Amino acid sequence: MKRREFVKLSGVAAASTMLIHPVLQSCMDNMNMNMGSNTVIVVKEGAFTSPLAFPNVMTSNFSLSANGNTVNLLNNQTASVLGYSGSILGPTMKIDKGSNVSIPFQNNLSEETNVHWHGLLVPQNMDGHPKDVVQSGASFNFDFTLNQRAGTYWYHPHPHGKTARQVFMGLAGFFIVNDDEEKNLNLPSSDQELLLVIQDKLIENGQLNYSPSMSEIMTGYTGEYVLVNGIYAPTHAVATKYYRFRILNGSTARVYNLALSDNQSFEVIGADGGLLSQPATVNSLLLGPGERADILLNFKNYTVGKEIYLKNKTFSGGAQGQQEFKIMKFVVNQAVDETFTVPSQLSVIQPISTASSSKTRIMKIKGMMEGMSGNMDGNMGSGMHTINNKVYDLDRIDETVEAGATEIWEFDNSNGDEIHPMHIHGVQFQVIERIGGRGSLIATEKGWKDTVLVMQRERVKVIMTVPQEKGIFVFHCHNLEHEDDGMMLNYEIV
Ligand code: C2O
Ligand code: CU
Ligand code: CU
Repeated sequence: MKRREFVKLSGVAAASTMLIHPVLQSCMDNMNMNMGSNTVIVVKEGAFTSPLAFPNVMTSNFSLSANGNTVNLLNNQTASVLGYSGSILGPTMKIDKGSNVSIPFQNNLSEETNVHWHGLLVPQNMDGHPKDVVQSGASFNFDFTLNQRAGTYWYHPHPHGKTARQVFMGLAGFFIVNDDEEKNLNLPSSDQELLLVIQDKLIENGQLNYSPSMSEIMTGYTGEYVLVNGIYAPTHAVATKYYRFRILNGSTARVYNLALSDNQSFEVIGADGGLLSQPATVNSLLLGPGERADILLNFKNYTVGKEIYLKNKTFSGGAQGQQEFKIMKFVVNQAVDETFTVPSQLSVIQPISTASSSKTRIMKIKGMMEGMSGNMDGNMGSGMHTINNKVYDLDRIDETVEAGATEIWEFDNSNGDEIHPMHIHGVQFQVIERIGGRGSLIATEKGWKDTVLVMQRERVKVIMTVPQEKGIFVFHCHNLEHEDDGMMLNYEIV
């Protein structure tokens, strides 16, 4: 067993009540796995003394290479990581809506990779589909025109079976689209606009360690060190002003319930696909892997010297939600007068009418426990997570959708005991309804989305209009352990 500290929490699925395949039973015994409980690693809070850092911003002459690098992650030990064009993570790419983007990409890794532009509406051959990999040493030119609304998008690798490890090792970056509508709101910008990617890492002897066991494929691989922009337990100085935070959960599996240490409320102004129509005031916000939140934090009422933490608050969602921990620190170091007020209207989001939907598709998403009873073909160690009882096959088209069609897709986790952040490539969708579980929509789900959290016992319905342009895209669980395990299907626009 690895030297890690686990919390064992009362779980959900009772193994004794199930018929367990003998191969699986011995596997479970070997792994010393307790199927009656969920395991999740205890997060260690740091000293919050390292200064927060930000990746370089690229606004033209884009280029990208995937490289092995070394950085100091913990205690001045040199850790081997992966990154785009630099240390860990990748440059923030920033463009205006309508721009033509050309990004030469060079793969300097010792294995295949590719780049997927998460949330961007690009043609299938530019989308980083798992069939389109760039071999070690090879290059590829990404070329597309972005005609979509302003938003906080991101990019990461997508080679099937290798996505989780490559992202975990450091390959991820922001892709920001700006437009006039957003500019006219005069939201906090420059040093008052902070891009934060939150990722938990398992670090042993100063090195990143990606080696999920079977039970960690089930719950998702979690780590004890929570990094923001690649920095463990960072601190950042702020003035008594409004700040705009664009937050990406770039973790492979961990869900965060973001809140402030003093429980001050904040304004949610945007989600995956850009601004909401109106801001929503909340005290906490759930953010699953792959999801983004755009929020405004007001430091106006604090005095100089005050320390405020961004933290993870407990939430109901199994083992993952049971620990409260701090993520990063803000220190107020300057008192200033500021006149900014939060706009009451941000944008206009026209709800897609359910009457315009030509088809409803049910996607039964199954975790390891449900997968076992329906999928006992003995392929242990992979294929335990399924969609409509299928494990991902690169060459199989699972769903065929008419070009330009509007459809309702329902992700059905009503029997499930695992959390699945479901993501669809090629579109932005609207969330219509959540049945069971939490039973309602949260603030970010009132906006355009490309990834939606489907928690235990929930069914979530989304509506979307697929592009006119034909092509093959994937949809999958953005718990990257689940995705690599096969919880992904192809859909073809015809
Ligand atoms: Cu962010 Cu298919 O992924
Ligand atoms: Cu994506
Ligand atoms: Cu999943």
